[in-house]
Amino acid sequence: MKSLSLLPFLCSLSLLSVVTASTAYPSIPGTDSGECSLAGVETINLPPPPRREVYDNGRIFDITHKYVPEMPVFGSSEGLGNFLWLPRSMKNGSLANNSAFKLDVHTGTHVDAPGHFYDNYYDAGFDVDTLDLELLNGLALLVDVPRDSNITAEVMKSLHIPKGVRRVLFRTLNTDRRLMFKKEFDSSYVGFKEDGAKWLVENTDIKLVGVDYLSVASYDHSVESHLVFLKSREIILVEGLKLDDVPSGIYSLRCLHLRNVPSALYCCCALSLFLLSQMLMQNGVTAACHKYS
Ligand SMILES: *[C@@H]1O[C@H](CO)[C@@H](O)[C@H](O)[C@H]1NC(C)=O
Ligand SMILES: *[C@@H]1O[C@H](CO)[C@@H](O)[C@H](O)[C@H]1NC(C)=O
Ligand SMILES: *[C@@H]1O[C@H](CO)[C@@H](O)[C@H](O)[C@H]1NC(C)=O
Repeated sequence: MKSLSLLPFLCSLSLLSVVTASTAYPSIPGTDSGECSLAGVETINLPPPPRREVYDNGRIFDITHKYVPEMPVFGSSEGLGNFLWLPRSMKNGSLANNSAFKLDVHTGTHVDAPGHFYDNYYDAGFDVDTLDLELLNGLALLVDVPRDSNITAEVMKSLHIPKGVRRVLFRTLNTDRRLMFKKEFDSSYVGFKEDGAKWLVENTDIKLVGVDYLSVASYDHSVESHLVFLKSREIILVEGLKLDDVPSGIYSLRCLHLRNVPSALYCCCALSLFLLSQMLMQNGVTAACHKYS
């Protein structure tokens, strides 16, 4: 992989987790196993480092999932498995610790490129590098989808998302069911049915669609819904978001993808939300969306 810049980031996270059973990751139970650690490594006599996903008293939320071996992989019951190792280690005489990882680019929180479901777009080079950073960053609405349905045209209609809103993160039953924390892929996840995707494309200004499991499309419309969304090459799909414990509302979304990958899609490495002021919320989501979109 070319994503060298991510290596130290990933490894520092997992190495340091050896020394602390963190209380700062309340929504991720049982993932402090130190997957980058090696048996018999002594714990370091330092205070535990802060490991947060909520910053500044709840003004900033990290909504990416931490890469762990137990995380689900689309269509598999095995989970991600070991993906991270330490080819050069100071304990073994190296000048520095250098870790390496190997990962399917569709793992965890990630964006889809147009070439993911259109082979001609893939051949023409519409990879993740062509996605619009302006669209990936800006005001976004986090909405709760009724829990008794996939996202159909009817559901989309019922959400009353105002015109002008360009980025929407859809929180569904997937979050309640904590599907992203279960190793086994679960095909009963909630996603967009083809008619829901069509409704969004035809009746809204939404150009960034975020969801809380590994696919924007419901399992039975996997291909159809992706084709609807990706056809114009104007819509960015962000999948596998971690929306637990984040109040619904209007946020400033920061989403950064990794560059220069010829493959169809790539991991989204940093995505966070900034809650706008309480005053703004009191004006009502709809009014505020009109004003700030
Ligand atoms: C280097 O890697 C070892 C594992 O071999 C680890 O225990 C140690 O904390 C690492 N050192 C630094 C400075 O990260
Ligand atoms: C150091 O090298 C030994 C022998 O090759 C190996 O068993 C051990 O796992 C290595 N330790 C680290 C921290 O890389
Ligand atoms: C969503 O659709 C899937 C099939 O793709 C189905 O298994 C699941 O039960 C549906 N969920 C809801 C809440 O209707």
